[in-house]
Amino acid sequence: MLIKRLGPGGSADIQPSEITSESVYLNRRCLLQAALATAVTGLGTAWAPRIRAEGAKLEFTRNDKLSIGDPPNDPVDVTTYNNFYEFGIDKSAPSKNSGKFKPSPWTVAVAGEAEITGQFGLEDILKPHALEERVYRLRCVEAWSMVIPWVGIPLGAVLKRFKPTSNAKYVAFKTVLRPSEMPGQRFPVLEWPYVEGLRIDEAMHPLSLLAVGVFGRTLPTQNGAPLRLITPWKYGFKSIKSIVEIRFTEREPPTSWNISAPHEYGFYANVNPKVDHPRWSQARERRIGSGLFASKVPTLLFNGYEKEVAHLYRGMNLAKHY
Ligand code: MTE
Repeated sequence: MLIKRLGPGGSADIQPSEITSESVYLNRRCLLQAALATAVTGLGTAWAPRIRAEGAKLEFTRNDKLSIGDPPNDPVDVTTYNNFYEFGIDKSAPSKNSGKFKPSPWTVAVAGEAEITGQFGLEDILKPHALEERVYRLRCVEAWSMVIPWVGIPLGAVLKRFKPTSNAKYVAFKTVLRPSEMPGQRFPVLEWPYVEGLRIDEAMHPLSLLAVGVFGRTLPTQNGAPLRLITPWKYGFKSIKSIVEIRFTEREPPTSWNISAPHEYGFYANVNPKVDHPRWSQARERRIGSGLFASKVPTLLFNGYEKEVAHLYRGMNLAKHY
């Protein structure tokens, strides 16, 4: 497999042996260690003690402008209560069953309607971009939510480096297919591999984030290591994990939950309190960690980002394009 190097303005093929491995790269990034992360963010120490030991510390700056002010959930909630069906359908399954998953080394195939395509090492995808931390609320379609401090890079800036052509109307993403490491993929609960997609203007929106870390450290396997999508104005299922392919397409790409239950899950998946899911009202949400008896809170249109993203859907019937 030829792994290409992607420069900020173009590509040049290089030998795989010339590429720094992802772990070396991440370790290099982490040389500044806790002192710097803490100094830059002011948050490192508060969260540090409860993080799983294996995540490497990341060097990043906090993006306050694109973060919500709510306090983040406990890291234990974030890393032990989530959906990652490749490891099982129970909320605790990803943390219990993802121990054998190997997120390094990692390559991403870039394909379709772009001038620059090929296989790229994770380091080359990340390299010219400064990591930033953004605190986003994850609103699951099952009517619960969490507040999570992700570390990543803007998706749009990455996509632009591949020079999408004018035919690129959508971006499709694919999760790795590794049944030997992902026990859930041995069962036909979804069509594997997991796939998702965005319209190109959604993908280019400044809020769309390619995450490589959480709570200041590299992503745990159960949260989508080493690379995952976050689109905070959409339901959580849109945020595909462990991405191995990014494809620019002219047509709307298929998406896993839409394939599995088209009457329940549309392509857009925008958080919308006025359009109920057939099985869950979307009007309110339960904040994970707020206690069993805490009352649900109202869900906000576009998860609170109406001002930032409503223009993307002007003229669309949001009850039809759910
Ligand atoms: N990505 C893959 N590959 N497989 C999955 O099962 N689940 C989705 C999404 N991304 C899923 C996935 C769903 S349903 C949700 S709610 C979010 O991941 C959960 O993300 P979290 O781990 O950040 O809570």
